[in-house]
Amino acid sequence: MATAQERYGDIVTLNLGLTRFFILSAPAHVGHVLVERPDNYVKQGPMWDRLRAVLGNGLGVSQGEPWRRQRRMVQPHFHRQALGALTGEMVEEIERVIDSWSPHVGTPRDMATLSPHMTMAVIVRAMFGTAIDDADVQIVHTSFGYILDYMLRGLILHSLPAWLPLPGRGRYGQALRSIDAVVYRTIEKRRRMGEGGDLLWMLLSTVDEETGTGMDDEELRDHVISLFLAGYETTANTISWALSAVAQQPEIARRIREEVEAVAGPSRPTFEHLARFTYTRQVVKETLRQYPSGWNVVRTVVQDDVIDGYRIPAGSQVMLSLYGSHHHPKYWADPWRFDPDRFSPEREKLRPTRAWTPFGLGQRMCIGAELAMMECTLVLAQALSRYEVTPVPGRTPEPKLSFTLKSRDGIWLELRPRQRSAEQR
Ligand code: HEM
Repeated sequence: MATAQERYGDIVTLNLGLTRFFILSAPAHVGHVLVERPDNYVKQGPMWDRLRAVLGNGLGVSQGEPWRRQRRMVQPHFHRQALGALTGEMVEEIERVIDSWSPHVGTPRDMATLSPHMTMAVIVRAMFGTAIDDADVQIVHTSFGYILDYMLRGLILHSLPAWLPLPGRGRYGQALRSIDAVVYRTIEKRRRMGEGGDLLWMLLSTVDEETGTGMDDEELRDHVISLFLAGYETTANTISWALSAVAQQPEIARRIREEVEAVAGPSRPTFEHLARFTYTRQVVKETLRQYPSGWNVVRTVVQDDVIDGYRIPAGSQVMLSLYGSHHHPKYWADPWRFDPDRFSPEREKLRPTRAWTPFGLGQRMCIGAELAMMECTLVLAQALSRYEVTPVPGRTPEPKLSFTLKSRDGIWLELRPRQRSAEQR
C-alpha cells in the first residue's frame, strides 16, 4: 500500500474482476470524498452488508435519516466536556490494568495481547459504569475477539452463500448471541439502577429533540455493539504502537515523564491535568500518523465522478488510504521517522489539515476521537510513570495488512520498574 503511492502516484486502480477499486492517498482526495461529496460516496456494498449483519443498524453503518437521528442523539455525549465526567473512572481502570502488568516485569511481553485488556476494561466501564458484572465482561471480551477475527475472514470470503458451512460460522453465531444476551441484560439492569455518568445511562435517558422520542432496546443494543466494535481494537492497537515507538526512543519517554511530573506531580491525573499533557498528546498524534489504526476508509461510488482528471465510474469502490496520506512525502518531511514534534502547536499550523485524518473526516468522522485521544494520553502518562519500557532485540514490529493496523508478529516489549532520580524520590 505504501509503495503503490510512491510508484504510481496519488490514484491507483485495482481491477478485481467485477469491481474496480480506486486507492486514493492525497489529502485533497480524502476531503473530496468525505467532505465535499459525501452523498456520492456511500457505505454500501458487500463489506458494509457484512458489518451490518453484526452491528444491526448502529451508528457506524446506518445511513440517511436513521443515521442522522442517531448521530444527533449520541454526539453530545462524546464531546470533550461530557467525557470529562468519565476521566476519574478511566484513570482508575487504567491504573488497575497497569498494576496487573507487574508479574510480567523483566520478561519480554507481547503488548498486542496485553493492550486489548486495557481498552476492554476502559470501554466497559465508560459504557456501563458498574452495571455489568465481571463474568459478563469476560463473555464480551472473548466473544468480541472471535467476532472480529471471523469478520475479517468473512470480508475475504463474503461472496460465499450464507448456507455454506464455513469453518467457525456456528461459533460466530454463538458469540453474537452471547453478546446480545449480555447487552440486553445490562440495559435492563442499568434502567433499574437509575441516574449515573456512564454512556449507557446517557443513551437510555436521551430524547431526540426533533422527534421527542428516545431509543428502544434494539437501537440501544445496536449502538452499544457499534461503539464497542469501532472503539476497542483501534484504541488497543494505538496504545501498543505508541509504547513501541516510545521504547525505541527513550528521549520521548523522558519528556513525557517530565511533563506528567510537572503537571500532576505524584497524584493521579485528572481531567484538568489532561488538558495540559501537551507533549504526551503530541506523541499520541504522531502514533496515529505513523500507525493509523483505521488505515483505510472504503466507500461505493453512486454517480460517475472525476477526481484529479481521472474518471471514477458509478458502482466502483474507493479506498482512501490514510496510511498513504499520512506518509505522503509532499506533506511530511522524512515521513517514516517517528517525531512527535511535528505536532507542536507552531508546526501544526503550517500543515494542510487534511493530511492528518486518523479519525476520518466530514460528517461520518469518528465519534470516539476525543475519547480515544484521552484514553491513549492517559495510558502513556500512567504507564510511563510506573515502568521503563524497552524494545526486545530482534523483534522490531512491522505493520501487516489487516482489518485494523496490527503488527505482523506482535509488539514485543520489556517492562522494568522505573528508576527514579534521587530528586524525584
Ligand atoms: C485510536 C482509536 C480510533 C481510531 C483510529 C478510529 C478511527 C475511525 C475512523 C477512521 C472512522 C471513520 C470511518 C469511515 O468514515 O468509514 C471512525 C468512525 C467511527 N468511530 Fe472511531 N476510531 C477510534 C476510536 C473510537 C472509539 C473509542 C469509539 C467509540 C467508543 C469509536 C466510534 C466510532 C464510530 C461510532 C464511528 C462511525 C461514526 C459515523 O459513521 O457516524 N471510535 N473511527
